[in-house]
Amino acid sequence: MSNICVIGTGYVGLVTGACFADLGNTVICMDVDHDRIDKLNQGIMPIYEPGLKQLVDQNVRGGRISFTCDYCEALKNAEFAFVAVGTPSGVDGEADLQYVRSAAEVIADEVDHPIIVVNKSTVPVGTGDWVSDIITRRCNDKPFAFSVVSNPEFLREGSAINDFMCPDRVVLGSLDHDAASSVAQLYLSLRCPIIITDLRTAEMIKYASNAFLATRISFINEIANMCEEMGADVSEVALGMGYDHRIGHDFLDAGLGWGGSCFPKDVKALAHMAVLHGTHPQLLQAVMEINRNQRRRVVLRLRRALGSLNEKVIGVLGLSFKPNTDDIREAPALEVIHLLENEGAIVRAYDPQAMGAAARMMKRLDLCENPYEVARGADALVLATEWNEFKQLDFARLHELMRTPVLVDGRNQWDPDKLRSMGFTYFGVGRGLVNNHD
Ligand code: UDX
Repeated sequence: MSNICVIGTGYVGLVTGACFADLGNTVICMDVDHDRIDKLNQGIMPIYEPGLKQLVDQNVRGGRISFTCDYCEALKNAEFAFVAVGTPSGVDGEADLQYVRSAAEVIADEVDHPIIVVNKSTVPVGTGDWVSDIITRRCNDKPFAFSVVSNPEFLREGSAINDFMCPDRVVLGSLDHDAASSVAQLYLSLRCPIIITDLRTAEMIKYASNAFLATRISFINEIANMCEEMGADVSEVALGMGYDHRIGHDFLDAGLGWGGSCFPKDVKALAHMAVLHGTHPQLLQAVMEINRNQRRRVVLRLRRALGSLNEKVIGVLGLSFKPNTDDIREAPALEVIHLLENEGAIVRAYDPQAMGAAARMMKRLDLCENPYEVARGADALVLATEWNEFKQLDFARLHELMRTPVLVDGRNQWDPDKLRSMGFTYFGVGRGLVNNHD
């Protein structure tokens, strides 16, 4: 059992804290957001993450996890300080490290005992050294023994708890091998491969992993766009590719592309780092461009089917960047809605979990109670997020409700032949020829 402080209570910090508590450690999660901490102390989660409330509640009852805004209380007995704060994109795509700096400074100010500082946030290569330098300079009047370890997270929103408890691997990097080994002890009960390397390599493993996953998605989307011109079905192409053990089936789903709080930020940050270090990230630039184009292609399809989109009513199903989360950051749906509104279209939408977030961010958007209200009087319906409840809709009812039966299946969830036989004009992504008759 160890005493762990987690700085930052976003989905990474909260999941990390709750899981370490569930593994038997004593965890104090701290955040500067008083409202968020107050809500956590009332059992109210700041995010929708399946299983998180139950995990937090049971560990609060077990006295293994608590929440505070008080840095001194959070750090006074901590053997490990996990930094799990946001690293949002700056104006040029670089990672904004202001919150990491604040966390390092507080550790320097509040800690007077040996501690291992663990960077859980996704940070540019070299940040571990920078954190170490900040702490060293800031606590020169009361030096205490500390080491910095990089421990990047590989948590997917919507499956973050499972990804923590059943990781493919744990990555640790440090100039102090003993410190990395101490952090490794926290993960031993997970019985997974643990890689111990140096700080910069660990930081790069995180960026390279996310950038590669984003590249796979942009690759299959480029293949999808070729399929539309050559009459092939990208879903079958991906299936045929995936049986090759060197390729695999995951992250080959063509569609509106990737969004979320990580891929867009991390790919941009890696490209920015590359340029800063005198290399030219041609592939990453193309990966981002292909991703942007996937949203624009929705507008092209709708223009092909409806002509001018001015005053046309377009329904959008799904606002979160993927299913099982209420997170709409960089969600493809939002970019599609923005493009449609720029064409003068009237857009209405529904999402099972992200309505609150959308209402706060998109004041003009007409939010409906269910998919059928979205379809009522609509000239087209766009599937943007593949929530389970959108997979088996009552299409006969949708056909009756819609003014024009045009469907854009942005996540290839529906059956083209069945829908075309019902009289819909169906557009998928890479689902065979898209010609002028569609
Ligand atoms: C990602 C990484 O998977 C995770 O390891 C890292 O720690 C954080 O970033 P996350 O952003 O939560 O996780 O979601 P993920 O499931 O990876 O999906 C990212 C985006 O890619 C979503 O918008 C999703 O819709 C899209 N996607 C995913 C595709 O378009 N096609 C696919 O085949 C898979």
